[in-house]
Amino acid sequence: MFQNLKDHPADKILELMQLYREDPREDKVDLGVGVYKDATGKTPIMGAVKAAEQQLWLNETTKSYVGLIGDPAYNTAMRDLILGDTVAAERLSSAATPGGTGAVRQAFELVRMANPDATIWVSDPTWPNHLSIIKYLGIPMVEYRYFDSTTRAVNFDGMMEDLAGVKPGDVVLLHGCCHNPTGANLTMDQWSAVAELIEKTGALAMIDIAYQGFGDGLEEDAGGTRLLAARLPELLIAASCSKNFGIYRERTGILIGISADARTAKTTQGNLAFLNRQNYSFPPDHGARLVTMILNDQTLRSQWQTELEEVRLGMLKLREDLAAELRQRTNSDRFDFIAQHRGMFSRLGATPEQVLAMRESHGIYMVGDSRVNIAGLNATTLPILAEAMVAAGV
Ligand code: LMR
Repeated sequence: MFQNLKDHPADKILELMQLYREDPREDKVDLGVGVYKDATGKTPIMGAVKAAEQQLWLNETTKSYVGLIGDPAYNTAMRDLILGDTVAAERLSSAATPGGTGAVRQAFELVRMANPDATIWVSDPTWPNHLSIIKYLGIPMVEYRYFDSTTRAVNFDGMMEDLAGVKPGDVVLLHGCCHNPTGANLTMDQWSAVAELIEKTGALAMIDIAYQGFGDGLEEDAGGTRLLAARLPELLIAASCSKNFGIYRERTGILIGISADARTAKTTQGNLAFLNRQNYSFPPDHGARLVTMILNDQTLRSQWQTELEEVRLGMLKLREDLAAELRQRTNSDRFDFIAQHRGMFSRLGATPEQVLAMRESHGIYMVGDSRVNIAGLNATTLPILAEAMVAAGV
């Protein structure tokens, strides 16, 4: 039977991780996969996470199953973190998922069950795995203009023009903050215009928020999501704890639904539990438990927020330093957009050939579309990137 299987195109981000591992050069620079690194190149475990793990080890008395949607306390804590008090609890439903990707996958499956005719509208560009999962599930997809590769900012007019073609029952996928792969984000006024347009078209908005706390701050980064939540009758939110809690391999995410009323929310809740049961039964608990402990304990929470803020400010500083370095080396301000972008990524605007040239000449690994992970830089590697960019003629 297995002879009937076909090879799949490699995921570009994971393929790059492999290439980087295989490169014997000691001074190679990894700006590929979206994993935070400190100035020494390590991905540390946050102190708050370690402290919670220690408490958990001491106090956990069973590893028995928790529940199909995970621990209700995790669901409540995450709804609060993302939505604050924007929406009445009776309109909410949610389920813990294996990472943010698990939430994205469950969201698309939910959409397919609710409206088999839905088309999913995705930003051009978007996280490659969005495209891959949508294609795998056989859901029709349309791209809307998002990033202007000349200005390296959001092409908002183009976006709105394209989204005007959305049909009732379609899904518009948006990045809650820290757009991946571009780093270019909507302003609150733009979020407001998007909310109005989506409401008018009768489409469903879906938000993927995987970097809350990495852009302008924990509350600020949830601003667009909360605005949509307050304005629209329905919303889907896929969220990840991988990055903001640094618990990547623990696979901790959540899918949240907002329904028009309590009765529909109850049915949505049942469907989320059903989907978990069909796909993997009980979601992983370890990471979710740590997150719950941290969010519900004042000391741990404040420790976590301090650490997260350090991470965020560190990335902002790297952005500013890189923009300044390029300003000096090119005697122009054409890379100032790097300091304006937010989150872990920026799309530099290099061609695939230039990306390859920088890999060959300077051992710099970035995704083929010239997405760089800003957190992969430090004081030593930042000038190397700037030099490579100039040498490659970016
Ligand atoms: C990324 O975009 O690099 C991350 O979200 C990791 C991944 O799974 O692709």
